[in-house]
Amino acid sequence: MAENNSAEDQAWATATTKPDGNVKSTPSPGVIGELEPLEQYLDDHLRSAGLTFDEWMGTFGQGQYQERNQTILRFLKPHQPRRIFEFACAGGFLARLLLEHVPSIERYTCTNFSPRVVAFCEKQLLHFRQCDVGRINADVMSSSDIANLRLADYDTFLTTSFEHIEHDLKLIARLPPHRCFVFGVAGFDDPEHYRVFNSAAEVRERYEKVLTVGDIEELGQEIRKYVTITWTK
Ligand SMILES: C[S@@+](CC[C@H](N)C(=O)[O-])C[C@H]1O[C@@H](n2cnc3c(N)ncnc32)[C@H](O)[C@@H]1O
Repeated sequence: MAENNSAEDQAWATATTKPDGNVKSTPSPGVIGELEPLEQYLDDHLRSAGLTFDEWMGTFGQGQYQERNQTILRFLKPHQPRRIFEFACAGGFLARLLLEHVPSIERYTCTNFSPRVVAFCEKQLLHFRQCDVGRINADVMSSSDIANLRLADYDTFLTTSFEHIEHDLKLIARLPPHRCFVFGVAGFDDPEHYRVFNSAAEVRERYEKVLTVGDIEELGQEIRKYVTITWTK
């Protein structure tokens, strides 16, 4: 089992997986999804855990996160992606891994809606000339950021944080057709998660209506994650 070392992990340890399906039965008030409350929640956590922001971000490059990123690398590399757009990134660790191991990449756009995550990624990815970093809100219902992007320029979309995006199906509807979309979702509850999945079959069931779903890999045991490679229709 991977080490249990991030803010998310600590919250996950006390959470219970919803037994009754893949969408939380409690409505959104229970989920911290807006930028300001999320930053406040994180500050409170950093204070109580005695961590700096950079130390906390560093955890997303270790343990089960690193393992998850390796799975994404394995899924993606054979498809020779050229232009990748990542939204709601967990730092630039995935970007760095892919840029270092996938020579077909010509452009990588790494995004998050938090100014301090964006600043962290800018520093981290400074030396990759194919990489740009942007402040983008992936919630298509509360922001026009996604609508204002030229998504057709990209052949591949990525996120390791799809459970953090409230309107996942609406975001998928904005992606151009016939593109590769690799994403991760969680199999455990957390104050920041809009959805919890109990099996790969549940992941397939939710997304196969709007995506062509390929492999799904289950990672972890208690702190379960599902990583899948899909294609937009
Ligand atoms: C803390 S990471 C968690 C990573 C993920 N669970 C994993 O396994 O890698 C989630 C990131 O999603 C970002 N995020 C949440 N909602 C977002 C949104 N609407 N648009 C862009 N980024 C968002 C947060 O700023 C945060 O940095």
